[in-house]
Amino acid sequence: MPFDVLYAGQTSRAFAVRFNGTVHAYLNRCTHVAMELDWQPDRVFDASGQWLLCASHGAAYQPDTGQCAGGPCQGGLVKINVVDKDGVVCWQTAYNLKPLAF
Ligand code: FES
Repeated sequence: MPFDVLYAGQTSRAFAVRFNGTVHAYLNRCTHVAMELDWQPDRVFDASGQWLLCASHGAAYQPDTGQCAGGPCQGGLVKINVVDKDGVVCWQTAYNLKPLAF
């Protein structure tokens, strides 16, 4: 599920995934080169469904933590805290993470 955030003052893409029943959200920005991970629009899981995979050079991230699991990534994805209450998922702001202004 893609969504937009204001990260460090810039409009940025983010995404949320459900993995093993729990929702996790991250900034959609690879730590190798600041590119979106998607290998197809809004597709970030590898074929096995076990890893978040960057389409550019194959960096793999753990879906539940965002930590680098292999490939050229350098550190973990920027995690966005979420609250899943009765099936309604909301992401939480942080000092460098804000909603877009309308
Ligand atoms: S930009 Fe993601 S692996 Fe290189």
